[in-house]
Amino acid sequence: MKKNIVIIYGSRSTEHDISILSALQIYNAIDKQKYNVDLIYVSHNFKWYTGKKLRDLSTYKEFDTKGLKEVAILPSSQYLYIKNMLGFRQYKKIDCAILSLHGKNGEDGTIQGLLELSQIPYTSSGVVGSSVGLDKNIMKQVFLQNKIPITKYVELCKSDFDSKNYNIQKIIKKVELPVIVKPNSLGSSIGISMCRTIDELIDGIKLAFLFDEKVLIEKLVQNLKEVNISVLGDGKDCIVSATEEVQNKGEFLTFEKKYLSSNFPNKTQNKVKNNQKNSKIEAKNSNFATKSKKELEFLTNKVDSETQNNKSSGTKNGMQNLDRIIPANITKTQKKLIENLAKKIFIATNSKGVVRIDFMIDTKTQKVYANEINTIPGSFAFYLWEKCGITFDKLADRLIEIASNRNKEQEKLISNFDSSVLNQGVAVKK
Ligand SMILES: Nc1ncnc2c1ncn2[C@@H]1O[C@H](COP(=O)(O)OP(=O)(O)O)[C@@H](O)[C@H]1O
Ligand SMILES: [Mg+2]
Repeated sequence: MKKNIVIIYGSRSTEHDISILSALQIYNAIDKQKYNVDLIYVSHNFKWYTGKKLRDLSTYKEFDTKGLKEVAILPSSQYLYIKNMLGFRQYKKIDCAILSLHGKNGEDGTIQGLLELSQIPYTSSGVVGSSVGLDKNIMKQVFLQNKIPITKYVELCKSDFDSKNYNIQKIIKKVELPVIVKPNSLGSSIGISMCRTIDELIDGIKLAFLFDEKVLIEKLVQNLKEVNISVLGDGKDCIVSATEEVQNKGEFLTFEKKYLSSNFPNKTQNKVKNNQKNSKIEAKNSNFATKSKKELEFLTNKVDSETQNNKSSGTKNGMQNLDRIIPANITKTQKKLIENLAKKIFIATNSKGVVRIDFMIDTKTQKVYANEINTIPGSFAFYLWEKCGITFDKLADRLIEIASNRNKEQEKLISNFDSSVLNQGVAVKK
């Protein structure tokens, strides 16, 4: 019998749009002979919808709910519910939810928590693994505990910054200029700046606080080479993919170009303008300022072409657009080191399914630093698995298998314990 699969994506996150692209990519790739697949789009205002028109990328450009059905997943039920005049009615049992959510309200353990309560198998890390992966500070603490090399960093809370309860000289003494300032739990390079002076650092901190209540100030890795790798597994057994090198083209982007261009939503532009008047931040000699836009362009092209041609998968010409080299141009020793560190990180962070772990190499000192884990990587990192002979449809099969097995294992665990405490006549204060 065909399994009922839902792909959940969107949600209130700065990475909402990238999540749509990842969702349509896996929708196009998944084997429809094996699975009944429904798309479930979580809109910015947290309403959940399903319907055929969600398969078209154009639907999201000016989203309206015409022709769509509002749906819900409820705790304590493995069913998808459809809204009608009387409320929500049971629609179909969900065998597995593929989570294609990036960033907050999806990659952070929140939807995972709902699915745990509903006992619906799902394809990402669990609640803890997901939230550790999205909180860069906690993630780095886990890395440090496990002797994973990372750059020096300092965490700063908004309340401390607002009440001037911090010492900028102390921070600089610890991390040394130039630094990278980033929101603690965002993705896709949003709100990140490189700062070379104290003034730039203060501006960078203010900018990052527009997006998050905690920011990280990190020592800049000079002569940067970025190398990513994907890990696939169920926690105990995991395998690593090919490596990719994301090329740094040394582009120069001013603060205004980065945050006040027409590519950036008006609301954010206004906030940035209000908060950052006269800002002089420049993201010199770095690729992170343009990365997210390029990623979007690449993904949009890919989904568009696949939707039109109804292809099942394939990277075709996409990688050149993103300036990626697969496999990464690194030494055998570095490759082995990155593979081992990636597996170690996968296990230490309690990861499940497919993740992408990003590393930074200082090409002068040849030192390797772990940057971050992405517990639901863009495009499910399928392009790295294709290079190892695992096609996107097979990757989806494996993710569903891992999710189902984990669910079965959890069902075996004792979750009730009959204690005698209620029969002991213990007084309850009124
Ligand atoms: N310490 C650092 N040194 C140099 N570049 C960095 C550093 N931290 C981040 N970057 C650059 O910024 C990009 C985004 O940072 P990252 O921590 O991966 O945040 P995000 O979650 O937004 O992807 C990285 O891909 C890299 O190009
Ligand atoms: Mg990153």
